[in-house]
Amino acid sequence: MKPASSADVAVIGCGVIGAAIAWRLSQLGMHVVSIDPAPGDGATHAAAGMLAAVSESDFGEHDLTRMNVEAAKAWPAFAAELEAESGRSTGLRRCGTLTVAYDSGDRAQLRRLLDLRRQWGLDVEEITVDTARHTTPLLGPRIAGAIWAANDHQADPRQVHRALLAALEVRRVEIVRRRAVGLSRAPDGRVTGVADDSGSRHPAGTVVLAAGWASRDLVRDLPMAAVPTRPVKGQVLRLDSSGHPDFTLDHVVRGFVQTRSIYLVPRADGEIVVGATSEEQPDDRIVTAGAVFALLRDARAMIPGLDELPLIEATARARPGSPDNLPLVGASAVDGLVVATGHYRNGILLAPATAAAVTELISAGSIPTSAADPRRFGRDPTPSTPSGGRI
Ligand code: GLY
Repeated sequence: MKPASSADVAVIGCGVIGAAIAWRLSQLGMHVVSIDPAPGDGATHAAAGMLAAVSESDFGEHDLTRMNVEAAKAWPAFAAELEAESGRSTGLRRCGTLTVAYDSGDRAQLRRLLDLRRQWGLDVEEITVDTARHTTPLLGPRIAGAIWAANDHQADPRQVHRALLAALEVRRVEIVRRRAVGLSRAPDGRVTGVADDSGSRHPAGTVVLAAGWASRDLVRDLPMAAVPTRPVKGQVLRLDSSGHPDFTLDHVVRGFVQTRSIYLVPRADGEIVVGATSEEQPDDRIVTAGAVFALLRDARAMIPGLDELPLIEATARARPGSPDNLPLVGASAVDGLVVATGHYRNGILLAPATAAAVTELISAGSIPTSAADPRRFGRDPTPSTPSGGRI
């Protein structure tokens, strides 16, 4: 039983994941409080927003790819509903994704990935360099191969987040702009609320931990409910093509340039996001000269016309990594505590599916067994589902 003054649910973290969960729960009429010192200023702020279930799929990540493919299907309805309720755009752009190889070594790498993706039954095809140039005339002279993923689209994470905040306001979700510093627990061990850094307590029937890589810190004292997230720093650039009518990119363009991965995400308003580094580093938010150099070097190897564009922003934030690159979404080993973090490179893509799963768990009491079950970690882990075969 929750006390009379208690929220039904307290959500720690108000990035895209936490905000989407708070929104979905509030739609069911639940009293939700969201706790975050700077909503949307974590990984959400840097994210490029690729819905790249196919183009980010990689060796050893079969379960994750399956999850991402399912999640991508939820995006159009999620965006339509959020846009209708908030009156704001999500920047969803159904543009497909081209991935190119710079040299023959990169082409071999791309073909290995193509074989893997075909084996998994994913929607991807090899296209000729001529066809790639036809769809993307800005490609540079040195392109050795290309593949096309017709259903890998994009949304704009900052627009999505603004829409979610507007929807939370409509649903009267209280946002507490403080840092969560601890969990309150009943004598029987159940989690009963959240303490913030002002000393205030926020009692709740259920607490959802959606604080990105920092989620681990809030369960340090609960080894049975370990949340082994870590920061994986990403540096991202933003350029502006709006004043350059000849610079037109109609698709996400990814590439391998002498084995290094690079992507360009073109928004409808002319913003071009170039990313990203992937560094096992703390979340220091420092943009380094070396990273800016490397990103621009590889991006302009694919699209030389970038040279002409104003560089308007360089951002560093950390993704929430997990030990197996899979997210942690579901009940923890501690009553009253639900986990929704560890989304690593796929936070925007997975947000609608994660919000749906957490909402089902809290409202119905259970969700189907999943490879994302947070109880695979911790002192007494529950086995996850086996993997293999087509997706
Ligand atoms: N999903 C792209 C990135 O994390 O850089």
